[in-house]
Amino acid sequence: MAFLKSLFAAKKAKFVEVQPFAARFEVPAGETVLEAALKAGVDFPHNCTVGTCGSCKCKLKSGRVNALTDFGYTLSQQEIAAGFILACQAIPRDELTELEVEVQAGSTPVATYQGRIVANDPLTHDIVRIGIELDRPLQFVAGQYANLKTADIERARNYSFADAPAAEGLKTVNFFIRKVPGGAFTEALFAGKLAQAAIEVEAPHGNFHLHESRGPMVCIAGGSGLAPLLSLLEDASRRRVERPCAMLFGARTQADLYCVDQINAIAKNWAGKFVFLPVLSHEAADSSWTGARGLVTQFITDAMPGIDWASAEGYMCGPPGMIDAGIASMTEVGMKLDAIFYDKFTDQSHIAKMP
Ligand SMILES: Cc1cc2nc3c(=O)[nH]c(=O)nc-3n(C[C@H](O)[C@H](O)[C@H](O)COP(=O)(O)OP(=O)(O)OC[C@H]3O[C@@H](n4cnc5c(N)ncnc54)[C@H](O)[C@@H]3O)c2cc1C
Ligand code: FES
Repeated sequence: MAFLKSLFAAKKAKFVEVQPFAARFEVPAGETVLEAALKAGVDFPHNCTVGTCGSCKCKLKSGRVNALTDFGYTLSQQEIAAGFILACQAIPRDELTELEVEVQAGSTPVATYQGRIVANDPLTHDIVRIGIELDRPLQFVAGQYANLKTADIERARNYSFADAPAAEGLKTVNFFIRKVPGGAFTEALFAGKLAQAAIEVEAPHGNFHLHESRGPMVCIAGGSGLAPLLSLLEDASRRRVERPCAMLFGARTQADLYCVDQINAIAKNWAGKFVFLPVLSHEAADSSWTGARGLVTQFITDAMPGIDWASAEGYMCGPPGMIDAGIASMTEVGMKLDAIFYDKFTDQSHIAKMP
């Protein structure tokens, strides 16, 4: 009887409330929270809309949602356990869902710039630095990223700014780009097909930035994930930020380390204590390397021994596996989950694999 009743009962409307916007809107059947929020005129942070970039990450305060794609591709287990979801992949299940979102302060509005690739310099065998000259100066916050799109690719790709920002904006911007086997954009770039190519730059995106605190900061970069951390550290160094800082750089071999002189220069000018610790995972046992060996995320306490971890902040950028391992290591030593900030360099291969 109860089953029949539920079958014939009119479907109850589903509403979502979002703080700090004080917004309340209905989510029609089959729509995601993000789709309904944008239709309702809510300025909900977002970018990719396919569960890859993490821009729409928000905290579920009450209610339940179904996930269109696994939140775990972009969010860590710890974040999912703490109630974080991706609004672009969330379908509400209950009559009321309450969400809280962090809004990036001080970011300039997203705009589209017309650019041209004017430099392409190898940094390692599979990472290049590309320089793009823009039609006008671009302002961003250190740590943010841009959507890059050439005429040959259907959708834009995300790349983090490698430069420290300037108050008046930058007319030429640099990115560190790693070659992804089988990747449409990076294969074309590495094959030299994009020299002097026209490129659309939509920016600034993302919420990865240095937070206000006096506590120690532990930064971990993997591969091309060094770009946003160089931007953030260079900017902090110029602003004379006075916090103990450890910079851990994970690479496979000595040949995969790059920009070491730039990191050493930041270390030298840093207003407080600065430890730079490169860690190699696949260096030949009989090589000349005398530094750390293993997985970079296992060296957090070596870089910062004896600190009060509850007051520390973590900043990480790079491959998804490294970020997940980093969050696990950082929370294990006592760092708070909400003091760990990252950009996971995901691609959209998980969508291709979906049934
Ligand atoms: C916030 C953010 C910031 C980032 N910043 C950087 C950065 O600074 N530097 C950097 O190097 N990267 C960065 N990335 C990653 C980058 O955006 C791209 O994902 C990456 O460069 C891949 O682009 P691509 O066009 O070469 O590959 P894609 O064409 O997107 O392909 C990616 C992978 O998916 C596979 N694939 C594609 N289509 C299919 C299909 N139909 N079936 C099966 N498999 C398929 C490809 O073989 C490849 O392995 C960032 C990502 C995010 C989310
Ligand atoms: S907008 Fe939701 S993950 Fe990118």
